[in-house]
Amino acid sequence: MNVPIRKFDAVIVGAGGAGLRAAIQLSEAGYKTAVLTKVFPTRSHTVAAQGGVAASLGNSEEDHWHWHMYDTVKGSDWLGDQDAIEFMCRKANEVVVELEHYGMPFDRLDNGKIYQRPFGGHMSNFGEKPVRRSCAAADRTGHAMLHAMYQRNVKVNTQFFVEWQALDLIRDAEGDVLGVTAMEMETGEIVMFHAKATIFATGGAGRIYYSSTNAFINTGDGLGMAARAGIPLEDMEFWQFHPTGVAGAGVLITEGVRGEGGILRNSSGERFMERYAPNAKDLASRDVVSRAMVTEINEGRGCGPNKDYVLLDITHLPPETIMKRLPGIHEIALQFAGVDALKEPIPVVPTCHYQMGGIPTNYHGQVVLGADSTPVPGFYAAGECACASVHGANRLGTNSLLDLLVFGKSAGESAVNDLRDSGRHHKPLPQAEIDNSVARVERLNSQKDGADVHETRLAMQRVMQKHAGVFRFNDLLKEGVQKIFAVADDVARTGIKDKSKVFNTARIEALELDNLVEVAKSTMVSAEARKESRGAHVRDDAHDTAETPNGRDDKNWLKHSLWHRDGNRLDYKPVHMKPLSVESIELKKRAY
Ligand code: FUM
Repeated sequence: MNVPIRKFDAVIVGAGGAGLRAAIQLSEAGYKTAVLTKVFPTRSHTVAAQGGVAASLGNSEEDHWHWHMYDTVKGSDWLGDQDAIEFMCRKANEVVVELEHYGMPFDRLDNGKIYQRPFGGHMSNFGEKPVRRSCAAADRTGHAMLHAMYQRNVKVNTQFFVEWQALDLIRDAEGDVLGVTAMEMETGEIVMFHAKATIFATGGAGRIYYSSTNAFINTGDGLGMAARAGIPLEDMEFWQFHPTGVAGAGVLITEGVRGEGGILRNSSGERFMERYAPNAKDLASRDVVSRAMVTEINEGRGCGPNKDYVLLDITHLPPETIMKRLPGIHEIALQFAGVDALKEPIPVVPTCHYQMGGIPTNYHGQVVLGADSTPVPGFYAAGECACASVHGANRLGTNSLLDLLVFGKSAGESAVNDLRDSGRHHKPLPQAEIDNSVARVERLNSQKDGADVHETRLAMQRVMQKHAGVFRFNDLLKEGVQKIFAVADDVARTGIKDKSKVFNTARIEALELDNLVEVAKSTMVSAEARKESRGAHVRDDAHDTAETPNGRDDKNWLKHSLWHRDGNRLDYKPVHMKPLSVESIELKKRAY
């Protein structure tokens, strides 16, 4: 079928922090750049990032990028690539200062420097004590960041296609990426965006879980498109559960609350983190805090009528601090928990927040294939949809905003270099690939007795929540694989009753579910296969021994998983233990 073709030097899918940062790089270099986005850019999920962006500026106390690097490697439980982590931590100050120059309204110290707060797992002097490293705009850092970068893009003439759903990644027979097919929501029209460089910045897929801090738009579109186009997904077993989602609602309460002095308490009012992490306490890394909370609940020390949450207490903080540093949290607690946080603690539970894995890239933002990391021509990815891999098995809070700035910039820079130096041109489009993409949409129009989209999505979310949660169990994982493939069979035959074209959100939800289920399958299969505990992946059958500290089995499992959609196949590639310029951070047992 003939679809209209629009030509650009570069097409970027996603207008969150990573997409906007990449677009600045390309548009400033004079390249004709299209950004496709499901929602208006400043409503992208980056808007929900609250507590800050990590950079060792050292504005309040001594800090160093090497300490930040150490914390990130340790936080990743040694699964992060040390070259990429060094690159990110060394670049942090540069990208934060750039952002400041774009007009980002950071909070300020009295001396005018950027305000920084402590955050989980960020320590001084190679693990000594919590350090102020998170550069914050109150508790609305992501919101401020999106506005600053959107305005910069307007200045440099980036072209935005708002309320467009990307459908499929188009590769030719040589494997080169030539752009994406996409549907305009307003009209239902399908268009081929033909590009010399394609950057995915589609964010996360937290909606595979029932309880999530993620927006409804976080449906893993980039991952689904990449997987269908033959790109494997890396380290998908590792999902972060943020310790403090509002109980019952899932809405995020920033870790910045604990950075400002908030304390987690159980039903007897005990500050239980002192038992689990005697040094860092409430500011241990997220996987550690989430497991401690679930253990408290499972052992009967939870709060409320069903003893199914713990309390986040800030009532001891001065009200002026709360209203100045955490105004959004005060509002969220009122709206979603019915609690005035100045006077009462907030009920919280660990809630799915972030995927550590994603589309495999190097630290230049190029998508790579195979154990030798060969770049895919014309394809780049950054932000949560990508796996650079700097977060390994567990991400530190505020390293997500840093990741999207550093690797959004890198991906944009790599695309600029490739456009400038290797003379990339618009290669002929493979019509059969475009036809397949159109056929995927057409199936929804012709499907008889299809599975209900809402019910099928709910079934997927329930399977993920039960079978791949904070703690993982061998039997549940095995059963989870069977169940998720049964759900996938239903996803392949979803139907919609409303076949209209104009703003048909039922069609969009069905297409999003196609992507979500690829993420769910990759997660369950990779998690079942990894027979150790590491970071956020903790199994009942991996035990703490001298050879396997905390159940981590470096002899057999110090490697990245790669899940291939075709054949539901896994293979593995080595972790980069060698940094760029400093000594390797040697393996040791992780404790806070
Ligand atoms: O807690 C937070 O403010 C979240 C930050 C992050 O995920 O990096």
